[in-house]
Amino acid sequence: MHVFITGGGGFLGHQLCQNLLTRGELTGPSGSPESIDRITLLDAVFPRPIADARVRAVTGDISRRDEVFAAVGTDAATSIFHLASMVSGECEERFDDALRVNLDGGRNVFEAARALPGRPRVVFASSIAGYGGEAMQDPNTDRTKLTPQTTYGMTKVICELLLNDHSRKGHFDGRSARLPTVIIRPGKPNAAASSWASGMFREPLNGDVCRLPVRRDQCHPMTGYRTVIDSLIALHEIPATALADDRAFVLPAHRVTPHLAATVIKEVASARGLTLGPIVEAFDARIQGIVSNWPVAVDGARAVRLGLPPPPPLKEIVEQYLADFGPK
Ligand SMILES: NC(=O)c1ccc[n+]([C@@H]2O[C@H](COP(=O)([O-])OP(=O)(O)OC[C@H]3O[C@@H](n4cnc5c(N)ncnc54)[C@H](O)[C@@H]3O)[C@@H](O)[C@H]2O)c1
Repeated sequence: MHVFITGGGGFLGHQLCQNLLTRGELTGPSGSPESIDRITLLDAVFPRPIADARVRAVTGDISRRDEVFAAVGTDAATSIFHLASMVSGECEERFDDALRVNLDGGRNVFEAARALPGRPRVVFASSIAGYGGEAMQDPNTDRTKLTPQTTYGMTKVICELLLNDHSRKGHFDGRSARLPTVIIRPGKPNAAASSWASGMFREPLNGDVCRLPVRRDQCHPMTGYRTVIDSLIALHEIPATALADDRAFVLPAHRVTPHLAATVIKEVASARGLTLGPIVEAFDARIQGIVSNWPVAVDGARAVRLGLPPPPPLKEIVEQYLADFGPK
């Protein structure tokens, strides 16, 4: 079968591709496992190319309908993972681009799925930024009203609703995972307003200074990248008969504050004899303002009941990061 991944050059898309190559199969249109013959990645950039004969990296723009349709192709045995997106900080600064990429791009991907023969499975990476404002609860669940207070969150909620409606119409078989902030992203900080969440682990573990733009007691829902990749695949594998009309599932997460992160990395560093870089205050009212309008906690019990994995303890997520991306 053919797997199409938008955002395949990004943090999660790259790892999803590698995981699928190792796994070698997914449930196909027949409802049985089928071997993955080829994976097409569509992204604007590919910082880490994957050398595997099954993988084709297409440089393109999801807001260009022709490019999306050409990359998806016409193979009936296709599954789609839609991960390409502008990140939260960029969307807040560039409203028109956010609509073009996240909304029009999402529509293009969904229309291309609809045009395929059969009823392909489509997994969409949504975000807990869909929660916001006075409707927020502690914790937020799949039943909490979605009133996002950022442009990024708004685009994610609209795509979740579109995906539900395409699925109701039988255009394709969609599923949305509402992702908590995913830690620990390797490399440099990015323009996401949640970039500090990975930075407060990564920079000290690398021996560098972490400049923290939010309060030390700011609570935020976080999960590990390995769990997220496993969850996207698990969500793909759920039979359509197990899903009802709301196909969006918030993934379970830890409640993490910078205080807690500092405690956990101290424990890990002392066990490994690592010298940590410092976490220093660099309060940024703009970032704090965005984060204050995001949920402090989510309850992913509905996703877990469906068979999606809960994250391992925070310390284990740090150990996973060091194993995958730490100094060798
Ligand atoms: N990482 C997180 O903490 C997190 C949390 C919630 C939701 N998500 C969602 O998960 C998905 C993957 O996240 P990630 O962390 O890998 O982000 P990422 O920024 O690393 O990857 C997204 C990719 O989308 C690509 N992209 C952006 N605009 C594009 C366009 N017009 N055409 C084609 N490609 C384009 C980027 O080049 C990038 O490689 C995104 O949809 C994101 O919104 C991530």
